[in-house]
Amino acid sequence: MIKIGIIGAGNIAKKFSEAVNNSQLIDGELHAIASRSIEKAEIFKNQHNIKKAYGSYEELYKDKDIDLIYIATPHVFHYDQMMDALDYNKNILCEKPFTINAKLAEKVFKKAKEKNVFIMEAMWTRFLPVIQEVKKQVDNGIIGKIELLEADFCFNPNNPIEHRLYQLKLGGGALLDVGIYPITFANIFMSEPKNIESTVKMYKTDVDASETIEYQYDEGKAILRAAINEERPLLATIKGTKGKIVIEGLHETESAKVYDINNNLIKHIEIPHDVNGFEYEIKEAIDCIKAGKLESDNVSHEVTLSILKQMDQIRDSWNFYYPQEK
Ligand SMILES: NC(=O)c1ccc[n+]([C@@H]2O[C@H](COP(=O)([O-])OP(=O)(O)OC[C@H]3O[C@@H](n4cnc5c(N)ncnc54)[C@H](OP(=O)(O)O)[C@@H]3O)[C@@H](O)[C@H]2O)c1
Repeated sequence: MIKIGIIGAGNIAKKFSEAVNNSQLIDGELHAIASRSIEKAEIFKNQHNIKKAYGSYEELYKDKDIDLIYIATPHVFHYDQMMDALDYNKNILCEKPFTINAKLAEKVFKKAKEKNVFIMEAMWTRFLPVIQEVKKQVDNGIIGKIELLEADFCFNPNNPIEHRLYQLKLGGGALLDVGIYPITFANIFMSEPKNIESTVKMYKTDVDASETIEYQYDEGKAILRAAINEERPLLATIKGTKGKIVIEGLHETESAKVYDINNNLIKHIEIPHDVNGFEYEIKEAIDCIKAGKLESDNVSHEVTLSILKQMDQIRDSWNFYYPQEK
């Protein structure tokens, strides 16, 4: 049984804990939670049936019983925290985006290889059964050659302005937080683009509020939208020469519909999550560690780097950088 330690007792750590505690797919248990506040860690520990609570991240890195550390803090902290955890030879599953740019990710991967440990970005969407099934169907030619992929992750959580989403120094903005998902869709189904064009609108706090990104390929294109200040249905549509597939719920999908060229529904792929969808990526990390693998075939180091490079290129074109990059 793999013993898991979590750093950051926040929003996403809760979802992760629910998956570990309730999915039969996972051969792992929650061993420790670390927070900057011991009181917060104790509350989280009790709420999620975790053995130990630590009042600093360092104490968790030092815990010799822990096999896998899940990093659940805002993106700007991932680099330093992964580098610190690697000093203790820990396997790591780190929330998306892995780092704020590709250069930092390269350094982390280099150190992980030197330490001979497993490391993966927690891009859970790639492991969802519906995505895996749609990918298989597309590869088998169910909709023919892809001509257009559209994917939208536009939401408006209306958080207080201090929330990390709007704060430049906390890695705020739409692209890194939610744009990474439509970009991932384009990469799963169409590969790396030949050319990228985009338009952006900035938020009053100087982070990107919304963007439309066009990926061009030799044949076909992808139109990707992301926003943190406007709502749109979470949806991806893949149009091919023989039909189309509509993936409902985008990054957290449990349902996709396949239509023929005359818009007749020909297949409904419906696979409910075992718990909340996080269980599949967690299972992958555990299976890789048990098999002695240093990276996942699905979310490989190369996949993470490629997506980060695309996001770097997009931000370069806006001349938009985080203070940590200067
Ligand atoms: N996979 C997904 O579906 C998904 C969804 C949402 C978010 N995420 C990713 O998960 C990560 C965390 O997101 P979240 O929404 O869980 O964030 P969050 O709740 O705002 O913060 C998570 C934890 O990080 C620490 N933290 C927060 N602000 C900090 C600050 N200013 N300085 C130092 N530490 C701070 C806190 O831990 P302590 O106080 O306990 O030390 C906090 O509880 C992000 O990278 C995000 O992109 C992924």
